[in-house]
Amino acid sequence: MAKRLFVKTYGCQMNVYDSSRMADVLAPLGYGPAEQAENADMVILNTCHIREKAAEKVFSELGRLRKLKAAKAEAGGRMILAVAGCVAQAEGEEILRRAPFVDIVLGPQTYHRLPEMVAQAARAGGAVLDTEFPAEPKFDFLPEPHAEGTSAFLSVQEGCDKFCTFCVVPYTRGSEYSRPASAVLAEATKLAAAGVREITLLGQNVNGWHGEEGWSLGRLIRELAEVEGVERIRYTTSHPRDMDDELIAAHAGLPQLMPFLHLPVQSGSDRILAAMNRGHDRAAYLRLVDKLKNACPDLALSSDFIVGFPGESDADFEESMALVREVGFVQTYSFKYSSRPGTPAAAMERQIPESVKEERLAALQALLLEQTTRFNHACVGREMRVLLDRPGRYAGQLLGRSPYMQPVHVKAAAHLIGKVVSLRITKVHPNSLEAIPA
Ligand code: SAH
Ligand code: SF4
Ligand code: F3S
Repeated sequence: MAKRLFVKTYGCQMNVYDSSRMADVLAPLGYGPAEQAENADMVILNTCHIREKAAEKVFSELGRLRKLKAAKAEAGGRMILAVAGCVAQAEGEEILRRAPFVDIVLGPQTYHRLPEMVAQAARAGGAVLDTEFPAEPKFDFLPEPHAEGTSAFLSVQEGCDKFCTFCVVPYTRGSEYSRPASAVLAEATKLAAAGVREITLLGQNVNGWHGEEGWSLGRLIRELAEVEGVERIRYTTSHPRDMDDELIAAHAGLPQLMPFLHLPVQSGSDRILAAMNRGHDRAAYLRLVDKLKNACPDLALSSDFIVGFPGESDADFEESMALVREVGFVQTYSFKYSSRPGTPAAAMERQIPESVKEERLAALQALLLEQTTRFNHACVGREMRVLLDRPGRYAGQLLGRSPYMQPVHVKAAAHLIGKVVSLRITKVHPNSLEAIPA
């Protein structure tokens, strides 16, 4: 009988990719997708450890699932409950202690072994814990990707050796690993053959990719642009330290590479950047932005910022605000610093009070909203290439994405889904742009 799998994903795009790959791994065992946890035969929580709140959510969700699992057992069935991802990696033992009803705890590097774990969980009464960093890369054992829609993620690099002092990722994902170019290109070819037109290369430090001797990510992107059917390429998340000339040149010469780059800076203050161990200062970041904009004048940038890092003064924070204005980021994700156990920043002096963090976050977000809105309005009248990817909310309408990831809606026939079309932007709505054929 067909079994139903429900995967709940927290955290970054890497986790989104991993969740769909876990579903691919379990499909041969007869698991198809479930709409909700209620009645599913297996539930996986794919978790994130990046900030305290993200990690806490897992335990409250587990409390809810415990009841569902008990109800299913009373009705004579069984629900397998698995916790995957970065909380599992960081706190595997703790999960089993606090939530002994969990059947499987697995880290981000072992999910190719899920079929064995499921078999073991079905046999044994006890829980299965697998949070190793195995010598074999999971990618060599994953089945063919299953593509849905016109846009897909493709993981090319994983792990991080940068050790920013606030961050858990080097501990939860392990050290940097790059997939060979041949594997990446083969996966891209399959995705394109299945109708995918836009590929987003993923990595914790995606531009640190070094899957082939002498190649940089710029070279890999050039090769990818040659794959039949691949019309748009993006990559995320990149680190300023790994932005080399070959990659910058790709922005100048490849129309497939979208002119929108997420290049997190975290802070505008040299003192804080040094305390964060980011490995570059404000001036180096600005030089990089200049080079990128010279290569591609249409380029728009987005960033991540952390406010209230230990020791951040009002003056340091003002430098972040000034940098946002100077670079003209069109989008930004900003977070209050969250102290993570075991990271160097957690032990630093002058932790910032919550109320100050909140004030700074509100000021930064207000500035960013202003800039995003200004950018959206500046798009009115512009002609843009939009990838139409699904039906809109109203009949006769389609929704797509601009090169800058803005949702765009237009009156158009359904057979245009999956096509990149030229549209003229006519209006800004709160969460989307409106367009007409150009
Ligand atoms: N590799 C990427 C970021 C991965 S984590 C990079 O280097 O930019 C995603 C974002 O979460 C980070 O950019 C950072 O802004 C935020 N973040 C990471 N650790 C955090 C912490 N302890 N508190 C608050 N935000 C954090
Ligand atoms: Fe975390 Fe820094 Fe690595 Fe990004 S580069 S994942 S912020 S340690
Ligand atoms: Fe979270 Fe792990 Fe991604 S900690 S942000 S899910 S790498």
